[in-house]
Amino acid sequence: MTDFIKSPLNYTGNKYRILDQIEEFFPKQINQMIDLFCGGATVGINVDCNKTIFIDKNEKVINLLHFISKQNFDSFLSECEKIITNYSLSYSYKYGYKTYRQKCSNLKDNNGLKDFNKEGFYRLRNDYNSLKDKNTSEANIMLYMLMVYGFNNDIRFNRNEEFNLPIGKTDLNKNNVNKIRIFIEKAGRKNISFVCASFTDNNFSRFLKGTDFVYMDPPYLIGDAVYNSSWNTEMEKALLVFIDSLMEKKINFALSNVIRKVGKINEPLTDWCSIHSNQIQIEKIKYHYRSASYHKIVRNANEEEVLIFNREYANEN
Ligand SMILES: C[S@@+](CC[C@H](N)C(=O)[O-])C[C@H]1O[C@@H](n2cnc3c(N)ncnc32)[C@H](O)[C@@H]1O
Repeated sequence: MTDFIKSPLNYTGNKYRILDQIEEFFPKQINQMIDLFCGGATVGINVDCNKTIFIDKNEKVINLLHFISKQNFDSFLSECEKIITNYSLSYSYKYGYKTYRQKCSNLKDNNGLKDFNKEGFYRLRNDYNSLKDKNTSEANIMLYMLMVYGFNNDIRFNRNEEFNLPIGKTDLNKNNVNKIRIFIEKAGRKNISFVCASFTDNNFSRFLKGTDFVYMDPPYLIGDAVYNSSWNTEMEKALLVFIDSLMEKKINFALSNVIRKVGKINEPLTDWCSIHSNQIQIEKIKYHYRSASYHKIVRNANEEEVLIFNREYANEN
């Protein structure tokens, strides 16, 4: 398997586990690629091409990725260390997990470093939420650290634009530090840009100039992730019209989706696939069972995850 790298953001629904299966069907030669609905940027960062435009409508995520991609690793780490000191947080990467775990009140629970970091994490969260400008370097480093120490290493904001996840079990450990170092190194070698936009924006077509491949991983109509809340049948249909426009422009595309799962079917997409059956190819994604929980295995047995892409470049390959 190619050495794919992980995103420094632990993004729900990221495509890391199936990258080898989807990349196989991407065009062999790509000049400019758009990773639309890029989330944690896992797909685009791993595809060889001359230029990659990462697009997502989540402004906080786009700003954070842009910020991280421009960092010098050593300076970034020392900024993280300042936060660790200021908020008395644990630092497993340097001093080891056990050092902090043994200071937690109940050593029999399954709460990792929660107890040790609780006070500092909520202080950091309050300070971050009180910042007027969330676009500064200071704000982005704080957000990165909130993610690293927060619940499920996720990023979530409430309607008032406040980071609202509770404390998690982990900290800045070897795994997180390696992910950020490797991502910064790779981003530094690539020609990339990050854009906060929706494919429904009036002036979206400006990004298509010079683009010869668009990968799309939208929220799934029949999915249940947090970012699915703003997605509905109308958005699904708008996306299918957008894909029609890509085909008209002869821009290659690939779309990830789930077309079927227990008792649910993505009808707009399956209808669209029937109408376009002679222009597109549909490949089923095999779920990676290794390391999956029993619950996930049962769920996935009834789920049909696919990659849908246009035939033109399937024939060229
Ligand atoms: C399935 S996730 C993408 C995961 C990503 N491929 C990865 O590997 O990390 C879907 C993403 O679509 C974004 N999104 C939702 N509606 C959008 C829209 N109208 N335009 C652009 N991005 C959108 C969400 O913010 C979310 O990040």
